[in-house]
Amino acid sequence: MANKDLRDWLADVEANGELKRINGAEPQEEIGGIVDLYMRKMGNPAVLFDEVPNYTKGFRVLANILTSTPRINLALGLSANASEHELVQWWRTYMREGPSRPTKRVERGPLMDNILEGAAVDLNLIPTPIWHEHDGGPFIGTACLVIMKDPDSGWINSGTYRVQVQGSNVATVMMSPGKHGRLLMNKYHERGEKCPVAVVVGVHPAIFMLSGLEIPYGKSELEAAGGIFGESVEVLNMPKTGLPVPANAEIAFEGYIGANDVLQEGPLGEWTGYYAGGSRPEPAIRIETMMYRNDPILVGAIPAVPPNDNTFYLGAYRCGAVWSQLEAAGIPGITGVWAHEAGGSRFWLTIAIKQLYGGHAKQVGMVASHCHAGAYCNRWTIVVDDDIDPTNTADVIWAMSTRLDTREGIDIIEGGWSSALDPMCYDGDDDRRNGRVIVNACKPFKRKDSFPVVARSSKALDARIIAKWKSDLPS
Ligand SMILES: Cc1cc2nc3c(=O)[nH]c(=O)nc-3n(C[C@H](O)[C@H](O)[C@H](O)COP(=O)(O)O)c2cc1C
Repeated sequence: MANKDLRDWLADVEANGELKRINGAEPQEEIGGIVDLYMRKMGNPAVLFDEVPNYTKGFRVLANILTSTPRINLALGLSANASEHELVQWWRTYMREGPSRPTKRVERGPLMDNILEGAAVDLNLIPTPIWHEHDGGPFIGTACLVIMKDPDSGWINSGTYRVQVQGSNVATVMMSPGKHGRLLMNKYHERGEKCPVAVVVGVHPAIFMLSGLEIPYGKSELEAAGGIFGESVEVLNMPKTGLPVPANAEIAFEGYIGANDVLQEGPLGEWTGYYAGGSRPEPAIRIETMMYRNDPILVGAIPAVPPNDNTFYLGAYRCGAVWSQLEAAGIPGITGVWAHEAGGSRFWLTIAIKQLYGGHAKQVGMVASHCHAGAYCNRWTIVVDDDIDPTNTADVIWAMSTRLDTREGIDIIEGGWSSALDPMCYDGDDDRRNGRVIVNACKPFKRKDSFPVVARSSKALDARIIAKWKSDLPS
């Protein structure tokens, strides 16, 4: 049985009333401009563009994909109305258990509807938008898979790295230092070989989500996606490189990256909300084969001032991953984790705990801000008591305003793991660091039982009132 694909998810999204169709917008500034407006309010529908002027009718662009919890739920097989808390718990379990299934090779798939080889390859057939006004060109790869093979072990890695169209048969890929794709590419170049690579655009969002987050080195994202689907991902091998790509993808191309073959890349408006990374020479992919389904859909997950489509879905994942890493570090009493969407789901973490011992809150803050899932580009880690809902900004600010003991509740840690994309990182070419703040906004441990009583109804009184007065109460 064929796997669910992007179009199946899109049908579910439309049935749930979360798809907007727009015809006739041009890709130089209108598609990007419309997406930017849609992204500014989380929960707005996904947008599917068709009849793009000067492109074949039916060649579509989809964006604003994972900016609502229901759309993320549908991608992961949860019910559309599952709560944010349920979604965090789903990721917590997924990260702890790490289910996976081997991929299944097939000989044919919808991706093979159109196959262009050699001189016939033409990326310009696809209506690739310039997503923001100051971008350096059209980016075909944002919600993409960049697939490479470890020349030693045969491990297949899939990472989401931005891909810019540089000509009809050439693109660039920007892989930050340490990313698996960059490590694999270097292995080929150190052997004096060209690096085979396949870029896939338009897959079921569950596969894209895994490619954009930190699946451990040596583990295959395509196999991990099989763990979500409960069935193997069907792949076909690209004709030149033999790299496996999902057989029901919308668009894929393959080629080689030569050592020292670079082209000026970027800039692209980034997930931090700035153009901090600028424009630099990046590896060029010389494309030999391009395939696409009939009426292909280019999918974008566009970075911008957060909340944005690049990072919103990562919030629930990061909560589940940080939570499971705190537990793995042996820390008890965690009752909630929230990676605030306005911090790009990275810069701001709030952890709720049931305080069990003196120093507990400090320990949680230190570990959360530096465990693997929490460390990169963190700036604020706030620890609150378990009566505070970490997803409720007003509650968190209230706790910070009324429970912080400034004599020992604020720690500033310098030299943390950062990125050139962080506009406040310290300069240094391959060693980007930042400072971060850990705030203990819990009641002082010694006074927690004698702390002033909270002027809000108890849960028990709430329940009695709601049972009797439901029809008179705000919904
Ligand atoms: C929409 C989106 C775009 C991304 N763009 C880039 C990028 O251009 N370069 C990069 O190094 N990482 C980018 N990332 C982050 C990586 O995808 C992420 O760190 C992932 O873990 C990389 O895969 P790897 O762990 O196999 O290296 C992006 C993530 C998302 C969700």
